[in-house]
Formats: sequence, structure tokens, C-alpha cells
Amino acid sequence: EKGGYEHFMLKEIYEQPRSIYDCFRGRLNVEEGWVGLGGIKDYERKLVNANRIIMVACGTSWHAAQVGEYLIEDLARIPVEVEYASEFRYRNPIINENDVVIAISQSGETADTLAAIGLAKSKGATILGICNVVGSSISRVTDAGSYTHAGPEIGVASTKAFTAQVTVLTLMALSIARKKGTLGESRLRALLGDLEAIPAKVEKVLEKSNIVEEVAAVYKNAANALYLGRGNCFPVALEGALKLKEISYIHAEGYPAAEMKHGPIALIDEEMPVIVLATKGTSYEKVVSNIQEVKARKGKIIAIITEGDVQVKELADHYIEIPDTDENLVPLLATIPLQLFSYYVAVMRGCNVDQPRNLAKSVTVE
Ligand code: M6R
Repeated sequence: EKGGYEHFMLKEIYEQPRSIYDCFRGRLNVEEGWVGLGGIKDYERKLVNANRIIMVACGTSWHAAQVGEYLIEDLARIPVEVEYASEFRYRNPIINENDVVIAISQSGETADTLAAIGLAKSKGATILGICNVVGSSISRVTDAGSYTHAGPEIGVASTKAFTAQVTVLTLMALSIARKKGTLGESRLRALLGDLEAIPAKVEKVLEKSNIVEEVAAVYKNAANALYLGRGNCFPVALEGALKLKEISYIHAEGYPAAEMKHGPIALIDEEMPVIVLATKGTSYEKVVSNIQEVKARKGKIIAIITEGDVQVKELADHYIEIPDTDENLVPLLATIPLQLFSYYVAVMRGCNVDQPRNLAKSVTVE
């Protein structure tokens, strides 16, 4: 059942070229510049005209929502708010019929997310779902939705469900953008082509697993770890930190790289591994300065870089290269080495990777 892998988590990490492909299959056509999500077809107008989109989720699904915020705001130009379902449900939120609420959940059973949907419904908002488990409670109580089609996820630490959620959010952003005309025809086609190329690029990242394993061996006894990213790689940093915490029990924090000097920089010494998302893009130079700040305090840099990079390669103690892609799609690739890193560290520490202590696959109590 583990298909020859030692753990479900590793199997699920390796399934991602396929699960991402399954997620966009039939939902885009590069030649025609077409993209659409059948499940929410009847709500396309509503989305295009929405004043605001509110996303509610928990845990890793909340991180996917954070990536979705960058995608929808940048590509489709609709304001997006991302909320922890548990906070949203208890804070008397301002919400009305012109808002579209998107609930994101792998299991479709998360108690807080279900309650947040109930509240938004009572205020008259349109509710869409992004779920992995077909026929789950959330998929039944939403007005419409899109499945992620990632297949069953058994490992408690979410991996392939996250990249599938980000893929659906990319498709959603692109289909709204297409209808709204916020992207030129050629930019849309280019993005669709880049999305179609992602599974093969994920495959290339997975080929680097031995390098990730070597780095994991160096830091397996760390007491803490810091993850830094900017823009759409900030939620990737949060997700990387969550993965490490969950399965290896190492204290880890994700931060927007620029926030470091407002506090966390005090933690940095020669014992501290700092995982930096430093791929090519609009904030590249800024991230380079952040790396220099960490180096000046003797922190150890593990950088995720774009293939062919030279500057960060020289500064970093360790680097893992990922293929180049459109900046909007980088989270789909940059997440993979972080999943592998947490996996190898946890295995080396003798942890129960698939069923970490104190955690359940679906959190059906608040
Ligand atoms: O099934 P859901 O996506 O609603 O679950 C939300 C969180 O409980 C879940 O993502 C959790 O944080 C995972 N253990 C993360 O790996």
C-alpha cells in the first residue's frame, strides 16, 4: 500500500508530479488560452464581480490560502482576506452577499472550517469549497466547489494536498483573470504553459532528494530552525516550518524575511539553521541582503535557489536548486525540498513520520 516507500509521507511527496497533473487535467488548454473549473462554473460571474474574497482554512490549508491571496490579487485584482477559520467564526466578521468565501480543506471535515462556513452562510455570502476528499462534509455544505484530485492523503503531515490546493487556486486566479481581462492574452497563455510544465519540474526537484538528505544529516540535532521568505514564498516559509515542527518536533518558525530585524534576528547564532527561499524574482536582491545579515551573525544558511544562480550559491552554507518558472508558480516547486528536508530530519531522529504524536489527520473537534 506504500508502493515500495518506507512511509506514506514519502510516497505522497513523490506522487506530486502526478497529483498536480491530475489537478489541472481537463481544466486548461494552453493553445486556446482557456482555463476553467467546471465545479464552480455557475459562480464565475459572482467571483468576477466579487467585492472581496475571504478564504477560511486551518493549518497547511491556511498556508495554501495565503499563496492564493498573492495569486488572486496579483493576477485577478480582487482583494483577498485570509482568515484562520477558528478566529473568523468567533469574531463577528463583517460580511455580506457580495462577498465570496472560499473554504479550503483537505479532509473536508475540519470542525472550525465547517463552523466558519455556517457563519458566512448565515450572513448571505456565497460559499465555495476547495476539498480533497470527495463527498466530505465541507464539499456538501458549500454552494459549489472544486476538488483537488490529489488522491487519498494518509500521512498526517499534508504534502500533496497542499500543492494541489495551490494548483486549484492558480487555476481559479487565472480563470477569473481571463474573464475579467486583467491579464493580456499572451501573458495568460505563458502562465498556462508554465503551469503545464510544473509536474516535470517537480520531478527534477525530487531528483535532488539526496542533496536534501545530506543537508538534513547536518542539522538533524538542531534545537531550532528559522524559515525566511518574501512575497508568495513567505507562506512557503510558514509551511516549511510547520512541516518540521509536526514530524521532527524541532521548534521552527517561518517569517517574512524583512521582519527578521524586528525581533527574530536576536535568535541567530552559529547553532541556528536558517532556511531561506531565495529564488530569482522581484525580491531577490532584498533576500540577498537578508542572507548577509544572517551570515554576519554566523547563522547557517540553507538556500533554495533558482538553477543557474551564482550570488546566493556563494553566500550559502548549503543550497538546493529548483528549475526556473514564472514567479507566481514558484511556491509549487519551492515547497518540495522543504517537505523532503522535514521528512529526512524526522526519519533520522527516529520519529513516527506518518503519525506524529498528539496529531490527527482530520481535526473534527474545535
Ligand atoms: O483537512 P484540513 O485541510 O482542513 O486540515 C487542516 C489542518 O488540520 C492540517 O492542514 C494540518 O495542519 C496538517 N497536519 C498539516 O500538515
